[in-house]
Amino acid sequence: MKILVLTAHPDLNTSRINRAWFDALSDASDVTARDLTAIGGAEMRFDIETEQALLLSHDRIVFQFPFYWYSAPPVLKAWMDQVLSYGFAYGPGGNRLKGREILILVSTGGPEHSYHAGGYNNYSMAEFLKPYQQTANLAGMTYLRPFVAHGMALATQDQIEATVPDMLAHLTDSDLDPKVKQAHLLEQLEDDPIKAAAVS
Ligand SMILES: Cc1cc2nc3c(=O)[nH]c(=O)nc-3n(C[C@H](O)[C@H](O)[C@H](O)COP(=O)(O)O)c2cc1C
Repeated sequence: MKILVLTAHPDLNTSRINRAWFDALSDASDVTARDLTAIGGAEMRFDIETEQALLLSHDRIVFQFPFYWYSAPPVLKAWMDQVLSYGFAYGPGGNRLKGREILILVSTGGPEHSYHAGGYNNYSMAEFLKPYQQTANLAGMTYLRPFVAHGMALATQDQIEATVPDMLAHLTDSDLDPKVKQAHLLEQLEDDPIKAAAVS
């Protein structure tokens, strides 16, 4: 499985967690990690053919970013607006990304407990990330369970480093596709129809 990581941090030189993730991903096999800010420059302009060819030569696409105002930094939006074009990602003939996987890798300043109903951020990450989920739906991609590191505003360098193995394990887990996960579970239960019915 080939993984394309599109890193959308305004300045990886001042980043702590996204820098650690980007460095680890740059060293990982079968992973192409790209710093969109460096590539797009101040104008945030992308070579559409290059970007689309990269998407087509990878199986799993990862959007990596720090959570800024409940969304991604603008370079990711600029990349999406230019690259996920009519006739490529949607519209007539726009099925080129169909069947590929998409995964959100995101860090937040706020702690985990704030991202719940009744928490000070009120809504869950699943709710905040819905525009990416629907982008995947429109493009016929499989939306995978995101990897979220919460509470990074107050995290120590050790706590940041500790996220790296879990992040790598999640991103390279070939069983993340919900249909594949369910099929594996059902295989394990095939001798027990009552339990199998309970998980379906
Ligand atoms: C402009 C800006 C907006 C931010 N908005 C949020 C936010 O909406 N929710 C949140 O939990 N953290 C927010 N943060 C905190 C960042 O998510 C946090 O600092 C980042 O994940 C750390 O990543 P880094 O070490 O790679 O920079 C914001 C930070 C900045 C600079």
